[in-house]
Amino acid sequence: MNDRLAALYPQHLATVRERADKALAHAGFDHLAVAAGLPGLKFLDDLHYSYAANPHFKHWLPLTSAPGSWLIHTPGSKPKLIFLQPRDYWHVVPDAPSGYWVDAFEIVIVRSPEEAVAQLPKGKCALIGEAQAAVAGIEINNPKTVMDYLHYHRAIKTPYELELMREASRIGTRAHRAAEGAFRAGKSELGIHQAYLEAAGQIDAELPYASIVALNEHGAVLHYTEFTRHAPQPARSLLIDAGASVHGYASDITRTYAATGAGEFQALIDAMDAAQQSQVAMVRPGRPYADLHLHAHLQLGAILRQNGFIRTSAESAVESGITRAFFPHGLGHSIGLQVHDVAGFAKDEHGGTIDRPQGHPFLRMTRTLEPNMVVTIEPGLYFIDMLLEELRAKPASKDVDWTKVDAFRRYGGIRIEDDVACTSDAPENLTRDAFALS
Ligand code: GLY
Ligand code: MN
Ligand code: MN
Repeated sequence: MNDRLAALYPQHLATVRERADKALAHAGFDHLAVAAGLPGLKFLDDLHYSYAANPHFKHWLPLTSAPGSWLIHTPGSKPKLIFLQPRDYWHVVPDAPSGYWVDAFEIVIVRSPEEAVAQLPKGKCALIGEAQAAVAGIEINNPKTVMDYLHYHRAIKTPYELELMREASRIGTRAHRAAEGAFRAGKSELGIHQAYLEAAGQIDAELPYASIVALNEHGAVLHYTEFTRHAPQPARSLLIDAGASVHGYASDITRTYAATGAGEFQALIDAMDAAQQSQVAMVRPGRPYADLHLHAHLQLGAILRQNGFIRTSAESAVESGITRAFFPHGLGHSIGLQVHDVAGFAKDEHGGTIDRPQGHPFLRMTRTLEPNMVVTIEPGLYFIDMLLEELRAKPASKDVDWTKVDAFRRYGGIRIEDDVACTSDAPENLTRDAFALS
């Protein structure tokens, strides 16, 4: 793995530099300074919140734990890493930089955030980071023109980034297999989560997002992040949405399982799985992502009808809002350095946006697909009490078989989520490729 990364990294860095050159020229800056960031301090406390590196920083180099460090880029010069290695016997101090990337940087070791800031270039400098990374005397400016340009282009992954995301998928799918085993062995949500972490070899703070491990009705809570300590009797279903990180790149994977004997729920999972795979096949260059989302609603309408939940056509279920009650989130999003990566609505590199289709306020991506973009495809079908109550009060209620719907509330819901790279040809399904190996 490391040899492959070493071989791919120079081209990645060249791409990142070239994009930065253009962003600076375009916005009229001489230098780019990117703060790795500092962890926030808890109110009235001497403890910090967990640290997350600035995604702009980890774009340049595989350092996810270098608080207080800075990356400096001046077009035409070797990029510079101002690396903070405090003299501190309370904490583990970051190791001196090593690895396939170090020779590409001029590295300056400093001992305090103030010393780091003293190294920042004078002149017109785009300073990118959170306000708390600022130390007296400097002002983070996050220039919009620079950010818009960088964010727009960041959606296109380099071969190096794709390799990291494949590895994040391999770790995630290995852990998903362990989680399914724990579910089938009767473990609680906490027990399943622990099996996941053990197999991933990652702690919670390293995961790209808080895992969702939802048994039975909990699957109907879209962002369920509790962990019950006792398994329900019986455990009928598991919805698990959990990823892994590699050098700051994320995987985002969801699977839904039916317990043995829950054949009616398994049949619904199978129908959703087939629809999901056909949506994945639509990840092709030139396609607006919103088309996929709207198509997923039509497919959901057909599934609801074929499985006896509604008595109307797929088209009318979409039209009347029935499908939105069962699938109230977007089909997916761009993914990379952030799980929900930036610029999902970008029309161009100058900050233009593409609106969401009307009536779909939670869609996170409207961009037109291009080769080397990575997006998630994550259709859902949930039995959410609040939304079902609202639907029941609408005229479309008459088209719903409520007895059938009520019988499925005990399963919570279904989501199936893969990470998919757009290519110039058939898409690469990072998640399914990784499951095939695990
Ligand atoms: N795990 C967050 C999401 O699927 O978008
Ligand atoms: Mn997702
Ligand atoms: Mn997810």
